[in-house]
Amino acid sequence: MKIRELASALLAAILTVGVSTPGFAEDKAAEVPARELNAKTDYCKTCHGLSGQGFRGSFPMPRLAGQQPEYVKNQLQAFIDRRRTNPVMFNVSHVLSPAMLTALSTYFRELNPKPLGGAPRDSLAIGKKIYEEGVAAAEVPPCASCHGPDAKGADAFPRLAGQLHDYMIRKLTNWDKERGQDKANPDNSAIMQPIAHNLTEAQIKAVAAYLSYLE
Ligand code: HEC
Ligand code: HEC
Repeated sequence: MKIRELASALLAAILTVGVSTPGFAEDKAAEVPARELNAKTDYCKTCHGLSGQGFRGSFPMPRLAGQQPEYVKNQLQAFIDRRRTNPVMFNVSHVLSPAMLTALSTYFRELNPKPLGGAPRDSLAIGKKIYEEGVAAAEVPPCASCHGPDAKGADAFPRLAGQLHDYMIRKLTNWDKERGQDKANPDNSAIMQPIAHNLTEAQIKAVAAYLSYLE
């Protein structure tokens, strides 16, 4: 299969079998009092950074700033359902009311801090090429075909611009063990599975470093 055909087949797959979040767009503005929302987002920021820029603790806490609301909501639900395994985020998310979940999903979108940076700069050009052109020999479509030319994402496709490189390396390396863990209920993580699987360690490091500097 040619690389472009593969990309469009995958796109078609996400549109048909994608379980993203039916009706997300129609959700009413969440009815959560500002005081409650602020208290909750203050809590999120203790780990994800005061501007949602991410934080390096004993392990990397991902950037949430500028993230697509639909993607955020999908991930919170995936943590709750344990389709995405992470003990910290299960504890955080399973207590959220549906209205709070919706409010939190949109809250981080408007934040726009500078990327944290910190990635090695020796393979940024290789990373850019992978992002824009994919890896034809490994049947990896251009990342840009789904995550957007500027890596800002759209709807269920996450923003990757400015994401912590060490977080992305861990996610792409462990995709099979952490995402899509309820085999009876496949979700959007299936779209990324072959891509994460087919990238080499060096390619993952290069593309993650490149993305981590994008604003
Ligand atoms: C105690 C630390 C901690 C707190 C508090 C916390 N998070 Fe997290 N969060 C994490 C970690 C660690 C991860 C990465 C999980 C992984 O590696 O898969 C994460 C991941 C996420 C993700 C997935 C991001 C992505 O790019 O896929 C979302 C969304 C998220 N958190 C939202 C929230 C929200 C909203 C709150 C507040 C209600 C919150 N988090 C509070 C530690 C925390
Ligand atoms: C066919 C569409 C498609 C292509 C091509 C694609 N992705 Fe993705 N990617 C997705 C979707 C959809 C998700 C969200 C999956 C979910 O909701 O579980 C995702 C998630 C991710 C995540 C997790 C983000 C987070 O915050 O945890 C990373 C990292 C990622 N992609 C990197 C890449 C890279 C690097 C490439 C190119 C080598 C790429 N993707 C190509 C569709 C795609």
